[in-house]
Amino acid sequence: NSPFSFSQALIKWQLVHGRHDLPWQNTTDAYRIWLSEIMLQQTQVVTVKDYYARFLKRFPDVQSLASAEQDEVLALWTGLGYYSRARNLHACARSVVADFGGEFPRTPEQLVTLKGIGASTAAAIAVFAYGYPAAILDGNVKRIIARVMGVRAPASAATDKILWQHANELLVTKADAKKLKMPHATALRIYTQGLMDLGASLCARGTPQCTACPMQTNCYARIHQLTDDIPAAKAR
Ligand code: ADE
Repeated sequence: NSPFSFSQALIKWQLVHGRHDLPWQNTTDAYRIWLSEIMLQQTQVVTVKDYYARFLKRFPDVQSLASAEQDEVLALWTGLGYYSRARNLHACARSVVADFGGEFPRTPEQLVTLKGIGASTAAAIAVFAYGYPAAILDGNVKRIIARVMGVRAPASAATDKILWQHANELLVTKADAKKLKMPHATALRIYTQGLMDLGASLCARGTPQCTACPMQTNCYARIHQLTDDIPAAKAR
């Protein structure tokens, strides 16, 4: 009777129920992964798909993007919104070429120094491109962790700190990966995509589908019937 493992349960769920054919999956090209993560920061998957394909056709690598005129980058971004993303994207590409020899750095610590890359995006790039062990914490993941771990405090910087601690503690370990008979890097990629996919499906904001969730018997919010109250809205 082994103790419940969040990461093992999530990975098993992801392999059966997760998304496996998104255009930015099944590549370890940091440029492609970075581009997808920036586009997905404030835009839905369905919308991103077309823009992503068009963008890669015109700018297949970081060098081509770095040497482009900003106007052309912005033109390709038209309709996606949040145009500071496109300006940061261009600046980031130029920095990767000028300061990192055309290769995206491999650690979240280095990645966050680049324009437009925050802590969670840096971790996602490090995981997907390099199999580097790092925790993500975007809006969907905050909701999952708050519910499973019973973080009832309203959204705030202090609450984020607690959620980051949980995110790091829950991250799939080498021992977890060994039990699943997969390389740690593989387990990290599946786990991270699993968080994104669970947050975008069963663990939705409105009406979570707890009866289909692998975490249901180990989720604080589910057990205490608090999924309407967790995560708690920002105090006002
Ligand atoms: N949102 C942010 N990153 C994502 C990814 N890799 N797949 C699906 N949705 C995402």
